[in-house]
Amino acid sequence: MVAIMRELGKAMCFVCSVEFWRMAVLWTFSLLTSYWQLYTTRHSSKSYCFPRCKPQVSQTMRPVSVITGATSGLGAAAAHALSREGFYVVLVGRSSCLLSKIVTEIKTQKEDAYLKAFQVDLMSFQSILDFKSSLQQWLLNSEMHLSIQLLINNAGILATSSRLTPEGYDEMLGTNYIGPFCLTKLLLPLLKNSPIPSRIVNVTSFTHRSCKNYTEFCT
Ligand SMILES: NC(=O)c1ccc[n+]([C@@H]2O[C@H](COP(=O)([O-])OP(=O)(O)OC[C@H]3O[C@@H](n4cnc5c(N)ncnc54)[C@H](OP(=O)(O)O)[C@@H]3O)[C@@H](O)[C@H]2O)c1
Repeated sequence: MVAIMRELGKAMCFVCSVEFWRMAVLWTFSLLTSYWQLYTTRHSSKSYCFPRCKPQVSQTMRPVSVITGATSGLGAAAAHALSREGFYVVLVGRSSCLLSKIVTEIKTQKEDAYLKAFQVDLMSFQSILDFKSSLQQWLLNSEMHLSIQLLINNAGILATSSRLTPEGYDEMLGTNYIGPFCLTKLLLPLLKNSPIPSRIVNVTSFTHRSCKNYTEFCT
């Protein structure tokens, strides 16, 4: 009986905590509100929604999409979906082993999928620079148009302890913001060179709102 009361007490404390209200209640509420807004916008006469068109795939021009963090989660799901749509999917990941695994997985489902994997660590400027050169070289060697059509900045981490990148930035800031910014800046000429409209998709999270000592961190 005492144990049950203790557990109940702990549960009550959790329900009264800021974390519970922020993550379980407010987060769910904002998610439902977003879905509701999406639904109403789609069904109203004044629609500001731009539906994504299927890519134009031809013998001479196969759209190229670069996905960071393509070895798991949302990145892997995007890689599966885009390869099904006919994109040449460039998978970017940290681990060569995980990259081979996802390539095999996609090939098992779609034998004729167009895939190319690059090992890149977004925490390292050198790795990003090397990737840009390798990507350009690969496009040239494959006799493809020197452009990309889609860049999905998806890779991200939720670091629970503070560690630094080779350049001395916080790892989470390096991976989630600085790395994708540098990558986008370096790949911009390839995106702009696209003969069809190109697009950049940034996948992010509002977890940054939990940051309490941001000013302290910046100083
Ligand atoms: N899942 C959610 O509920 C959720 C909610 C809000 C926002 N998001 C955002 O959605 C994105 C994807 O989330 P997810 O849940 O699919 O994540 P995930 O399954 O943990 O996948 C993250 C991917 O990023 C890669 N990655 C991490 N650090 C990297 C680095 N330094 N260089 C290159 N690649 C790196 C990982 O590779 P390794 O396997 O080598 O680590 C992995 O492939 C993230 O930006 C996240 O902030 C997710």
